[in-house]
Amino acid sequence: MKGVVLAGGMGSRLLPLTKVTNKHLLPVYDKPMISYPIQTMVNVGILDVLLVTGGRNAGEFLRLLGDGRALGLNRLHYTYQEGEGGIAQALGMAEHFAEGGPICAILGDNIIEKNISRAVERFRQQERGAKILLKQVPDAHRFGVAEIQGDRVVRIEEKPKVPKSDFAVTGFYLYDNSVFEKIRRLRPSGRGELEITDVNNFYIEEGTLTCELLDGWWTDAGTFDSLLRANNLVAQNGANHSEEPGELPVEAAAQKSRA
Ligand code: G1P
Repeated sequence: MKGVVLAGGMGSRLLPLTKVTNKHLLPVYDKPMISYPIQTMVNVGILDVLLVTGGRNAGEFLRLLGDGRALGLNRLHYTYQEGEGGIAQALGMAEHFAEGGPICAILGDNIIEKNISRAVERFRQQERGAKILLKQVPDAHRFGVAEIQGDRVVRIEEKPKVPKSDFAVTGFYLYDNSVFEKIRRLRPSGRGELEITDVNNFYIEEGTLTCELLDGWWTDAGTFDSLLRANNLVAQNGANHSEEPGELPVEAAAQKSRA
């Protein structure tokens, strides 16, 4: 399976920090933000990765990451997203790269503590469909939020004013190749973007979306508060611990929280 790291956008929530550089090049403790999602790919054994970038200073990614081999990849590929068409539009740019196969997508500002290899392995055993990873958070209104019945996600709402649960949809997505046909069916949302949440809802309607819960910490880093939080979490605990399993099937997680 190939991987895509999505690092486009203008980073407007971090202005003026992003006035002269790309959000994903900002420091998170001792490394540029983009290093963390790339390390996540390496840890799950996905070594052919496409980086979708955009906005300002896209050339700096080449200078920083080169062909990706120093980071443990076989090869890092690059493409450029014009404007702010959204996460799903950026993912759509990976269609040729995916060569008809499944794809693992990671948002360039998402950082995790542990290793999600087992979730990736379980997705590989899935004949078709998608898998998302959820995390309980105190500020669900900032994210895609999963409405859950039993061990199933029945709907995802993007940044709801009144969230139906505290389960945020993290920025780690596993898709079969039908994701590209689904992206072609999308219409821009209220914020004028093609939403990854709408893609996930297509999979829910099809009955092929599975989910797991993340164990250990997870954060995005696209706002001042979450960027500070990311810095502190990485400084205190480190990130991407390759040996520690970082996900649980939803049922097991529910049992753990009941115990
Ligand atoms: C994006 C997604 C959202 C998801 C989040 C995870 O939000 O749209 O569904 O929960 O990433 O970081 P954005 O970063 O565009 O606000």
